[in-house]
Amino acid sequence: MSRTTMQVIELAGAFGVDNLRRVERPIPTPGPGQVLLRIHAASLNYRDLMMIDGAYNPRQPLPLVPLSDGVGEVIQIGDGVQWPPVGARVCPIFAESWLAGPPTREHLATTLGGPRPGLLAEYRLAPASALVAPPAHLSDPEAAALPCAAVTAWSALIEHGRVKPGDKVLVQGTGGVSIFALQFARLAGAQVVITSSDPAKLERARELGAAFGIDYRAQPEWGRAARAWSGGDGVDHVIEVGGAGTLEQSLRAVRPGGSVAVIGVLSGAASPLNITPILMQQIRLQGVIVGSRATFEAMNRGVAAAQLRPVVDRIFEWGAVRDALAHLRGGRHFGKVALTLR
Ligand SMILES: NC(=O)c1ccc[n+]([C@@H]2O[C@H](COP(=O)([O-])OP(=O)(O)OC[C@H]3O[C@@H](n4cnc5c(N)ncnc54)[C@H](OP(=O)(O)O)[C@@H]3O)[C@@H](O)[C@H]2O)c1
Repeated sequence: MSRTTMQVIELAGAFGVDNLRRVERPIPTPGPGQVLLRIHAASLNYRDLMMIDGAYNPRQPLPLVPLSDGVGEVIQIGDGVQWPPVGARVCPIFAESWLAGPPTREHLATTLGGPRPGLLAEYRLAPASALVAPPAHLSDPEAAALPCAAVTAWSALIEHGRVKPGDKVLVQGTGGVSIFALQFARLAGAQVVITSSDPAKLERARELGAAFGIDYRAQPEWGRAARAWSGGDGVDHVIEVGGAGTLEQSLRAVRPGGSVAVIGVLSGAASPLNITPILMQQIRLQGVIVGSRATFEAMNRGVAAAQLRPVVDRIFEWGAVRDALAHLRGGRHFGKVALTLR
């Protein structure tokens, strides 16, 4: 490689999108067990916005290279690397040391885009063990959409939820995690009810296989509406991304013995909650934090077998990352927002 420096976009000095700046850094050389990646595409998660705003971890040291998710090509490998070979297309996993099994505190301290450096860089070193091969039929922006949002939806529904054909699944909103959840629920043969603030998005969700849509702004008691749609008993699973403002309605929507995958905090993280329905109806609340490399690999097998395509709402040049973040913050997207770095 003739170049010795690369461009990186980092958050420096203070939190806030105005403190993102493009800097030049030396291209690193892989040590034993490491590979050097040329990043081709990345995708945004709501977490990245929170991280950049300082809302995710106010004690996150700066400078920080943001973004957890992307895809790249192996340019160089260090000593002892058996896989991947030079030229392979790979996605870094969300938490570098979480390879399989349940998460540990140590695993959760190795997440990309905070505390570890993220993918908003032309090149990045990665441990060879912290990479997976994305399904070959996906474009780079589609592959870049997988590591956080898709793995979270897969963990919630397939691993923890054990969703089966004929189950009824409630999905909240039409962002990255939720549209993957809709797609995976359909793949598993479940019926889906989805909520959105936008009737046009509900129509798009129906085209993707949702059986029923509820406008959560027009119908604040959407939990009852979802339960009525299910036939009266309640849905089997809820993909809970709203957090404090939605959990009460989720508990209305779910059937006795059903499960709520507690994933997000879009409407806040704390509120008074009557916990009685949880015990009286034996509802299972399952916290979900993305997933391991093994979960990512299992999901990729499913995505490849079904030739499933992630829904990418819009693709920005990486220099326009502030515009991309503003697009995500505005909430007009459907599915994922991606960046190209080529
Ligand atoms: N625990 C984990 O491992 C994990 C992993 C990934 C994400 N998350 C969390 O999950 C949440 C979603 O992340 P994301 O990246 O998918 O976000 P995103 O793509 O930015 O999704 C935003 C969408 O969510 C919907 N929404 C916003 N407020 C809502 C509310 N009060 N009720 C229902 N829907 C609402 C809106 O859909 P409409 O426009 O259709 O109304 C909005 O467009 C975030 O809180 C994120 O931090 C957690």
